[in-house]
Amino acid sequence: MKRIVIGNWKCNPGSVQESVALAEAIEGILFRITNPPEVAIAPPFLFLDAVRESVHDVVLGAQDAFWAPLGAYTGEISFRQLKNLGVRYVLVGHSERRAHLGETNELIRQKVLAVAKAGMRPVLCVGEKKREGKNLRAPRAFVKKQLTECLLDIPAPLRAKLVVAYEPVWAIGGTKADTPADAAEMILYIKEELGKLGFPAVPVLYGGSVHGQNAKGLFKEQVIDGVLVGGASLKLKDFRMIMEAATEVPAEGPKTS
Ligand code: PGA
Repeated sequence: MKRIVIGNWKCNPGSVQESVALAEAIEGILFRITNPPEVAIAPPFLFLDAVRESVHDVVLGAQDAFWAPLGAYTGEISFRQLKNLGVRYVLVGHSERRAHLGETNELIRQKVLAVAKAGMRPVLCVGEKKREGKNLRAPRAFVKKQLTECLLDIPAPLRAKLVVAYEPVWAIGGTKADTPADAAEMILYIKEELGKLGFPAVPVLYGGSVHGQNAKGLFKEQVIDGVLVGGASLKLKDFRMIMEAATEVPAEGPKTS
């Protein structure tokens, strides 16, 4: 299967002009890659429409979605509005929203449901806050709870829409990503847990300080179906290297057993 590369621009850049220039440049790079991965960019809501106008092969992502279709919810952007704009991937439960905006597993569950019902792909972000030593037991337990609570009662027909991003919080926004081996071990575990929860074929991405230099190493692990990239998605050279690395080793695809 095609790997998935999602650029999460977070609260950047500062103007619509910069957003359009960046999106056009990414589109130009993608166009020249043979056998390219699926590339999505998630700009701030404010720039989504302009970015949509400037891309063709790059698909549109959003950084969040409110769970009600329309109504008296001041300041929110709903899943229906995003769907009508042509958004395909919606990040849900990013650790920055959990930390700064108080998002709970229950709220995130409602968003996963709303996004999937609308026919878009929720990208459920999970990951432990800290890692002590080499032991992955505590991270596994932490992530299992997030998966169990955020995916409770999602109806079977909607499950194929799901994407999961494993983003260890301690690795986000720095230069130190998880090691490819540990990331792969966690992702394998996540796929097994998803299978037990009745989500048998979910692509699982890695996120947390992915950049041009470490992407190749991560993609050597076939279990990693793609990456969610923050800071480096704003730097063309890095993002190009990541997109190119995503084509080199075929991923094994979601676990189907
Ligand atoms: P980062 O962010 O690549 O800057 O670590 C990843 C994310 O928060 O999705």
